[in-house]
Amino acid sequence: MKRLIIAIDGPAAAGKSTAGKALAARLGYTYLDTGALYRAVAWLAEREGLVDSPGPVLGALVRKADIRLEGDPQRPRVLVESRDVSAEIRTERVSQLSSKLSAVPEVRGALLALQRRLGEGGGVVMDGRDIGTVIFPDADVKFFVSASPVARARRRYAELRAKGVDADPEKVLVELEERDRRDSGRKYAPLKTADDAMSIDTTDLDPEAVLARMLALVESRL
Ligand code: CDP
Repeated sequence: MKRLIIAIDGPAAAGKSTAGKALAARLGYTYLDTGALYRAVAWLAEREGLVDSPGPVLGALVRKADIRLEGDPQRPRVLVESRDVSAEIRTERVSQLSSKLSAVPEVRGALLALQRRLGEGGGVVMDGRDIGTVIFPDADVKFFVSASPVARARRRYAELRAKGVDADPEKVLVELEERDRRDSGRKYAPLKTADDAMSIDTTDLDPEAVLARMLALVESRL
């Protein structure tokens, strides 16, 4: 059977990774969280003291970086130079920094090559901001997953609490909106819906209902 490239794009905490993991598991595909790559870059740039460096310096850092996504696809580990940074890259600080650095064209250029290499064989569900528009504009199936800002902030707050992080719900909302504004407003590969993407608003949908909609479209393309 044909092994598809499936793109899932959308704003922060819209339910992309929940849907992407479930879809990949159902199809026996690999799930790739491209946001984790941007987060790993942010973590690395901070460690190297390079967060305010010019684009070419950041691009060179990313090109020579050893960043890997490994392990159980349902709970992938993010490794930077073999160090497991999976938990450290989920802090609010890294979220904001990844969003800032992801606007740098040299950073995006370096990660573009890596993402295409990871997805080119098909049999993959990739979640991000520009998968269906820039990374794989010819992806077989494209989804744009969104939800109201309040619903997204509620989910992210619950995720943080579940991890034992002491968060403030209002601050979570402000930070998500700030990141969305930056991701949508940037010049290079902004967050936007691909013309041929199916939009799914998950505000009032449970994960099973989201998966069912996705599967219906995927099956029609197989
Ligand atoms: O999990 P969450 O939705 O909060 O964010 P993420 O998917 O982990 O992405 C973190 C940041 O990386 C985003 O705010 C974007 O700025 C950036 N990103 C991007 O520019 N392009 C992608 N394909 C994925 C993430």
